[in-house]
Amino acid sequence: MTFTPRVFSGIQPSGDLHLGNYLGAIRRFVPLQKSHDCIYCVVDLHAVTVWQDPTELANATREVAAAYLAAGIDSNAHIIFNQSRVREHTELAWIFNCVARMGWLNRMTQFKDKAGKNAEAMSVGLYAYPCLMAADILAYRATHVPVGDDQKQHLELTRDIAAKFNHDFADRIKSLGLGEDGYFPLTEPLISGPAMRIMSLRDGTKKMSKSDASEMGQISMMDSADRIATKIKKARTDPDPLPETFAELSERPGARNLVQIYASLADKSPDEVLGEFAGKGFGVFKPALAELTVAELSPIATEMRRLMADPAEIDRVLESGAEKARRIAAPVLADVRQIMGFLT
Ligand code: AMP
Ligand code: TRP
Repeated sequence: MTFTPRVFSGIQPSGDLHLGNYLGAIRRFVPLQKSHDCIYCVVDLHAVTVWQDPTELANATREVAAAYLAAGIDSNAHIIFNQSRVREHTELAWIFNCVARMGWLNRMTQFKDKAGKNAEAMSVGLYAYPCLMAADILAYRATHVPVGDDQKQHLELTRDIAAKFNHDFADRIKSLGLGEDGYFPLTEPLISGPAMRIMSLRDGTKKMSKSDASEMGQISMMDSADRIATKIKKARTDPDPLPETFAELSERPGARNLVQIYASLADKSPDEVLGEFAGKGFGVFKPALAELTVAELSPIATEMRRLMADPAEIDRVLESGAEKARRIAAPVLADVRQIMGFLT
């Protein structure tokens, strides 16, 4: 069966958006609007898998929506909404909790990373989170999901869940006329380019993350030009000049990361960037990178501030987006209830 091409992705409203979110996700959401129907979600139900202050959650939810809008996502032609408004996500997540196996979830490295030695004290939601993520995607039968490389394993799980559901209910799906080879698509991840994984500016072996201990490790989308320049200037690198090829940076994580950021912002390959900067030191490269980063982020931050000054308008966008989302997800859940044998 062929599925209507549809893009779905989400970002958690759980703290400041950073350059990794921007390059790995938001920036890549924009061009997909030309070729696909796109649904971009603020995944507030994911955020509460760890504690969120309610007032901050509401604010962070608007801020992610503002970032989508400021980056150039068209909320009229496409869909921007917050997850908790569309109940189909949680309903399908429960069903997927019953499809996915404990062994599959036990392999999720993100849970292990986040829980560390403290798994006993984590919420059940943090453990079950990948089933909710699969539900987010499959409630729209989305075919393509742009994300950073850290989400690859969750997308593999999404495919496993779709495949098991299709297999377990194959006869029923066929007899109801809901698909010859399954009801859910096997979603394709869209993970490519130099920005798959932006690393911390303080430690090129750790990913840039909202929970970074040092604020100097990440560039926030709302940072001022001065702040961005300072953070890049202080980024941990090494004294050697830049080489001619990206392969030669394999043992220099800090330098590698900065070249990747530059390449991503300039829409060039890392080797092309090194073609321009080979032989030069960081005294030359860092100011060039700062200039490029500021040129890209500053107008977006300005627009985000303008949008955040009118929260009622953002709320209106989210509410009308949720209505459009529900119109797609509700019939899917109606099919799923029928497939499962629930009386409705
Ligand atoms: P999160 O902040 O965990 O909700 O992530 C939202 C999106 O940003 C997901 O698509 C992530 O894969 C992406 N992302 C988060 N951190 C990074 C990073 N350091 N490099 C690239 N992409 C990232
Ligand atoms: N798990 C993703 C993250 O932490 C966020 C997310 C939730 C998501 N649901 C999604 C991403 C569906 C893509 C599609 O980054």
